[in-house]
Amino acid sequence: MKLFEPIEIGGIAVKNRIVMAPMTSHYAWKGLVTERMVHFYAERARGGVGLVTVEDGIVDYPLGNNTDNPLAADDDRCIPGLTRLSQAIKAGGAKAMFQLSHAGRRAGHLSPPSMRLQRTGGRLPVAPSPLAHPTPGHVVPRPLTMDEIEEIVEAFGQAARRTVEAGFDMIGLHCAHMYLLGQFLSPWANKRNDAYGGNLEGRLKIVIDIIERIRQTVGPGYPIVCRMNGQEPADGNSFADLRTIAKTLEAHGVSALHVSVGFGSILWDKDFIPAEATMGMPEGCIVHLAENIKQAVSIPVITVNKIRHVDFAERVLQENRADMIALGRALLADSQWVVKARENRWDDIRPCVSCCQGCVGNIEKGRPIRCLVNPRLGREKQLRVRPVKPEKVKRVLVVGGGPAGLEASIIAARRGHRVVLWEKNADLGGRLKIAAMPPGKTELDAFKAFLRRQAIGQGVEIVLNRSADVAAVLEEEPDAVVVATGAKPHIPEFAASANGFVKTVETLLCEEAPKGKSVVIIGGGLVGLETALYLLKMENTVTVVEMGATLGQDMPMITRMPLLLQLGTKGARLLTEARAKAIVPNGVRADIKGKEDRLIPADVAILCAGDVADRALTAKLGDHGIPVHAIGDCCQPGDMPAAVYQGFMVGLTL
Ligand SMILES: Cc1cc2nc3c(=O)[nH]c(=O)nc-3n(C[C@H](O)[C@H](O)[C@H](O)COP(=O)(O)O)c2cc1C
Ligand code: SF4
Repeated sequence: MKLFEPIEIGGIAVKNRIVMAPMTSHYAWKGLVTERMVHFYAERARGGVGLVTVEDGIVDYPLGNNTDNPLAADDDRCIPGLTRLSQAIKAGGAKAMFQLSHAGRRAGHLSPPSMRLQRTGGRLPVAPSPLAHPTPGHVVPRPLTMDEIEEIVEAFGQAARRTVEAGFDMIGLHCAHMYLLGQFLSPWANKRNDAYGGNLEGRLKIVIDIIERIRQTVGPGYPIVCRMNGQEPADGNSFADLRTIAKTLEAHGVSALHVSVGFGSILWDKDFIPAEATMGMPEGCIVHLAENIKQAVSIPVITVNKIRHVDFAERVLQENRADMIALGRALLADSQWVVKARENRWDDIRPCVSCCQGCVGNIEKGRPIRCLVNPRLGREKQLRVRPVKPEKVKRVLVVGGGPAGLEASIIAARRGHRVVLWEKNADLGGRLKIAAMPPGKTELDAFKAFLRRQAIGQGVEIVLNRSADVAAVLEEEPDAVVVATGAKPHIPEFAASANGFVKTVETLLCEEAPKGKSVVIIGGGLVGLETALYLLKMENTVTVVEMGATLGQDMPMITRMPLLLQLGTKGARLLTEARAKAIVPNGVRADIKGKEDRLIPADVAILCAGDVADRALTAKLGDHGIPVHAIGDCCQPGDMPAAVYQGFMVGLTL
């Protein structure tokens, strides 16, 4: 396969065509490399990636910080940690690249709840021009003076020296995603009329100055790989301009180009693809942008963004649309993607479902990245699946075949336990089945199918249509019981007796959807909003009633913003601070923003007001002398990543 053919970047041989895309992990501590970070990257290097790109290293820390906790590259204090990192990556068999960056005006984000400039440590961010990044919550930056631009050029040069001293094979230059260098490149953000603005030559000047400064600092032959956007807003660079930028970078000795995309959420309403394409977007949705750049240059071009499947990646290379494939989230979901791809074990790859919940969502919250489908992410050293000793093998009964129960079964069986899984329904999947039903969510089916395949492959005895009660469990004589019986929809008191008029989201999705009706959705979290979109597509009129002040509070902004925009465009009525209190024959009565007892006319009401844990079996099994482990929604409803993690942990510790 072409994927596994070697390639050269600036004279450095890379063993295959797979690049780990740069991903800020929030595993740093005060800008420095941690053990956790070393293990995170080392495992991916051992997993067969040809070139590992280490996340944004900020050359002017914290003024240029892209998030609340990035890696720093601004001082020699960083070199020892970076050295450990590059050594671990290289010991794993990959080449190592460090991406250097400055967030410019994107550092000027007011972090809730304090609404402080947390990223920059309270300082006003800098940019080519005094224009705020258009995502809500950004302040107007201070335009850089000529002297300050020189200082930034020098900061990149010094950060490059540190990169080389730390033993990295290549330097990555972040000119994409509308961070500082992207801002300079684009007339969308750069309104200067001095030497660093105006025409394309002026806008390119800071990047060229930096490349030259890096060459003076580290020598002429060191490979530099630029990441650039392949698409810009209407008043930004055209596709032809972007080709000219690519050619100019090549002419200045850049060794490869990594074509990405994305500027910030405000532009999603204009059909722009975000840097992290979400569920429902097609695989390889920006390969055509890399292709546009590839037509202009002869250095290797790397493509990225929602490339998930081995055959798809191979096809992109075979069709000569790009020279290398970068994987980001696919490698968060499965560090062994490359090994499994090479060994033709494609079905064993844990599939990233593009939910952004644990990765981008956690970055937004200032937390370390996690992954819905991979409980080991960020705990690579601690969480290793090891076989049990023969004398410790148990007969394990798992009750419930949702994500938590399946994960527990797989891991326990992999360790050598004899596992029986009972599922009360006719098929596996539990909450995953419901979650995959709304439009654009079918990628979740891939995770369900993966879990099912793995359970079968590990020899789990799966019994469908099997309900559990205490007598049946005792009759099975298990050494341990794992209860993963899930949750039940929360039915508020006022809705309990309104049969027929009120439906839960589960019943709605399992029967024929209403058409041409007036629907009220009670609850404006992720489930309520996705249900609203589903019903709008069925030509219903929809009102969402949310008690709190914010809709989609449980969603990452990257998925919440486009969903809200779509709902607005399709005419949904979205009510916040609205408390439903009664169901009447012609609708729902609610207190709305202090105005009491308003009627919202409707033909049907859908309850999306959360779930309550189903603890019945756990409670009844409590005093029968068998160890009982309750996991997933039957402990903590609504948190799928936590459910999968709990399943994994039980499987690991039984
Ligand atoms: C958690 C997270 C952090 C990211 N941080 C960076 C970063 O530091 N620098 C960068 O250029 N891109 C960053 N990206 C974008 C990725 O490099 C990549 O372009 C994007 O995730 C799309 O590729 P994928 O679908 O393979 O994940 C980040 C993406 C994620 C998911
Ligand atoms: S959290 Fe979701 S999008 Fe992020 S890597 Fe995991 S599965 Fe993929």
